[in-house]
Amino acid sequence: MKIIVIGGTGLIGSKTSAILRQGGHEVVAASPKSGVNTITGEGLKQGLAGAAVVIDLANSPSFEDKAVLEFFETSGRNLLAAEAAAGVRHHVALSIVGTDRSDNGYFRAKVAQEKLIEASRIPYTIVRATQFMEFLGAIAASAMVGNAVRLPPGLFQPIAADDVAANVADVALRAPQNGIIEIAGPERAPFNEIMARYLKAIGDPREVVRDPEARYWGGRVEERSLVPLGEARLGRIRLDEWVRRSQAAA
Ligand SMILES: NC(=O)c1ccc[n+]([C@@H]2O[C@H](COP(=O)([O-])OP(=O)(O)OC[C@H]3O[C@@H](n4cnc5c(N)ncnc54)[C@H](OP(=O)(O)O)[C@@H]3O)[C@@H](O)[C@H]2O)c1
Repeated sequence: MKIIVIGGTGLIGSKTSAILRQGGHEVVAASPKSGVNTITGEGLKQGLAGAAVVIDLANSPSFEDKAVLEFFETSGRNLLAAEAAAGVRHHVALSIVGTDRSDNGYFRAKVAQEKLIEASRIPYTIVRATQFMEFLGAIAASAMVGNAVRLPPGLFQPIAADDVAANVADVALRAPQNGIIEIAGPERAPFNEIMARYLKAIGDPREVVRDPEARYWGGRVEERSLVPLGEARLGRIRLDEWVRRSQAAA
């Protein structure tokens, strides 16, 4: 089966492409570097020719509120129109658990992306993942106030990129759900506690302060804003194991 991975050079895109190739599928890892650009439309028509499935794993180069909204709206519109013309049979996209439950600019952009997919006539599956473990360092940096990392005690359940990619690849090979599937990591605990465990495991001396008023990328986080509320597929890689693997790979 021919599968196009948009954003195929990214963190999740490269891992998903490798898994699908190992399964014997014809995979094209598409991105601006390979001449496929969902914003300008460059290479889209040729890039999608003969594709049965398109997996959208592109990400915005800027996370600024307006830029990220513009990215996911323009990219989604161009990509879905090209897929309709090419007769693509399954569109898979990666979104975020709770994207409609916490108010920040990035989440608003992902909601806009989901709405475009739902309104299109292409059979689809949206995979909503919790935060990637690979993103913990960036979260700590964004939550620094003075010398400490300040985070709310809302529940947090990060997932390793390898587990995300395995689930995205699996979903892409199944029938379209025309709905949302949620995936999360194997451990759930207050945000500040998971961050403290992570920093300790990597030998980072920064203090983590539990602060119910602290925001996540500007948005308020309640107890269950960032975790699945219903059924979810769980990843296998625990935080300690992920840290061990990342340190071994470095
Ligand atoms: N971070 C999280 O915790 C989290 C949680 C849940 C879901 N997600 C979602 O997961 C998805 C993948 O994230 P990631 O971290 O794997 O992304 P990433 O590593 O930043 O990779 C982004 C990819 O998008 C490509 N790209 C950028 N502009 C493009 C354009 N105009 N046209 C086509 N491709 C373009 C890049 O191509 P080049 O290499 O050529 O620049 C790259 O392959 C995103 O949609 C994100 O919203 C993230």
